[in-house]
Amino acid sequence: MKTELLLVKDIKKDAEKLARAAELIKGGQLVALPTETVYGLGANALDEAAVKRIYQVKGRPLDNPLIIHIADAMQLREYCRDVPPEADWLAERFWPGPLTMILRKKSIIPDFVSAGLDTVAVRCPDHPVALEIIRLAGVPIAAPSANISGSPSPTEAGHVVSDLGGKIRAIVDGGRCRVGLESTIIDLSVKPFAILRPGGITPEQIEKVIGPVILDSVLLSAFKEDKPRAPGMKYRHYAPRAQVVILRGNTVDAARYFNENGGENAAVLCFDGEEKFFDAGRILAYGKEGDSAAQARNLFSGLRELDRGRPAVIYARMPKETKGVGLAVANRLLKAAGFNVIEV
Ligand code: TXA
Ligand code: MG
Repeated sequence: MKTELLLVKDIKKDAEKLARAAELIKGGQLVALPTETVYGLGANALDEAAVKRIYQVKGRPLDNPLIIHIADAMQLREYCRDVPPEADWLAERFWPGPLTMILRKKSIIPDFVSAGLDTVAVRCPDHPVALEIIRLAGVPIAAPSANISGSPSPTEAGHVVSDLGGKIRAIVDGGRCRVGLESTIIDLSVKPFAILRPGGITPEQIEKVIGPVILDSVLLSAFKEDKPRAPGMKYRHYAPRAQVVILRGNTVDAARYFNENGGENAAVLCFDGEEKFFDAGRILAYGKEGDSAAQARNLFSGLRELDRGRPAVIYARMPKETKGVGLAVANRLLKAAGFNVIEV
């Protein structure tokens, strides 16, 4: 299949391309589109056949439900029932933005979207291109991250081309994603409310609006007995081809460990300023040690870029700080590494 590339720099000047993307979605086709978090693989959420194709193209397990994207919080009650007031407060404060809410679904949402659950994940993305395409299509857009299942999520159009080029009808290029990690997911369908996946909106920010929430215990630990409540969180995830190993500790000890044990075919993902300590052929910095926002923005693209050199192992530095957005960075790194952490 030929994949159309639709470059959108300005939603007014490039209105025709947005109209094309919306028309394809309405016609049951798959279109990748930019959001502020990561690129999504979009389809009309009300079209069961189109949604089914998302799973096929991504190689996604059928028990892993999708997020529907809406253009306005007003649409929440068209697709969800028993919506608690907390959902309105969160939408008011954080939408459009990187927050996904799990709510009880109405029957208009096909079972394929929710993987048979009676809840559905909803979010209103903070990206002018995504919002415009949803509006023009006139339907909610179901969109998982636009990567092959298990690989790092795409944060620029080129990543989508390399994972899904030739397999989908169009890719809308809206530049690099501002946040770089997937949205925070909060389950509002049960009490107490629980954060199932950390992201750009932090637990601290959420608690200011709706009070205490629980953090799913699997976020930072290898789940043995604990069963993750977001089905997707149980799969190996966010991982490049290379094995990922986390080096935790200070710069000098981490570099010493690497220089003694790293071997020929190893690459390093480090903090800004650490490059000179590591005796590595391939090394890339993904942000200052204390700058979680920069790390979030650069983590997936950094893993993808290092992976292109086909290393056997990528040693990655992990932030000490797991508060705020640092929690999301740590969560994604731990999962990419299969919880393989070396304390140096
Ligand atoms: O930022 C994002 O959320 C991106 C962009 C494209 O919006 N989307 C994204 O989708 O990350 P995906 O499919 O890669 O991740 C969705 C996660 C999965 O872990 C899935 O299991 C969980 O959301 N999820 C979806 N519906 C759910 C539900 N009803 N109950 C619990 N978890 C759900
Ligand atoms: Mg994903």
